[in-house]
Amino acid sequence: MKHFLSIADQSPQEMRRLLGLAIELKEERRQRGNNHSLLAGKTLGMVFQKPSLRTRVSFEMAMIHLGGQALYLSPFEIQLGERESVPDVARVLSRYVDAIMARVFGHQDILTLTEYSRVPVINGLSDYNHPCQGMADFLTIVEKKGSDLSGRKLAFIGDGNNVATSLLFGAAKLGMDFAIAGPPGYELPADVWQLGQQFAATSGSHLLATNDPAAAVAGADIIYTDVWASMGQEEEKEERARTFGPYQVNADLVAQAKEDVIVMHCLPAHRGQEITDEVADGPHSVLWDQAENRMHAQKAILVDLLT
Ligand code: CP
Ligand code: NVA
Repeated sequence: MKHFLSIADQSPQEMRRLLGLAIELKEERRQRGNNHSLLAGKTLGMVFQKPSLRTRVSFEMAMIHLGGQALYLSPFEIQLGERESVPDVARVLSRYVDAIMARVFGHQDILTLTEYSRVPVINGLSDYNHPCQGMADFLTIVEKKGSDLSGRKLAFIGDGNNVATSLLFGAAKLGMDFAIAGPPGYELPADVWQLGQQFAATSGSHLLATNDPAAAVAGADIIYTDVWASMGQEEEKEERARTFGPYQVNADLVAQAKEDVIVMHCLPAHRGQEITDEVADGPHSVLWDQAENRMHAQKAILVDLLT
């Protein structure tokens, strides 16, 4: 059975096909005021171990626009792995719904869900990666920079986290150059970097991991940042705020990239930390188009898995 767990599992052709479908569905809704009911009678169970604005609402609206329905299950309801084991949740929930979307702490819980589920599973963020975010981000990049992404450079400034992982995988699959700059000790995990290198060897992407933000943004078409402390790392917040200080995306840093650089952030943003108000609200920012594109990219993923 097909699932959607990581951009690493997608071939470049599959990625491009999904992005093309997302563009079609976005355009269809713009022209007709709605989408065709491709998912009539279909249901999506959405399991959350963590809070969400974008993931929850964009998936729910995607299902509604496509004629289906989504059911939100808050962290207090299922209590994945606490009230009931992950395999038992997968066994039961997958008898009620046509697909499961889950946002979890440990990525292993996503893998366990797929093992015991009768229906497709979508990763709505784990500590390992955030593939739906990544697909929405490449959709945004295609819209802003054109469909030939080879040789374009994405610079990620900050923590080597779940979002950075999905961006590395996608960039390396699509032939984009990828640079990441963060403080020592907060690099992408070695196995993630190795996988990125494998994809880059096939696509021709150039990869750079550095502690120097200026080196990362030199010649960049896209500057991307994310929170310094992810959900589940609240206890490290103060320490990370001190360590990541030199890695703020501010006007000075943006000025060192290409003149027409776009600035991206998956949101929620901690303004004044990883990004300044001036940049988030400034002329290079594409934050709101990027957030909107979560819905369009996920429609493509849902249609692909459910039809
Ligand atoms: N970017 C993102 O996943 O946002 P939420 O945490 O609000 O879903
Ligand atoms: N890296 C962040 C992304 C939030 C959408 C987190 O995991 O909290």
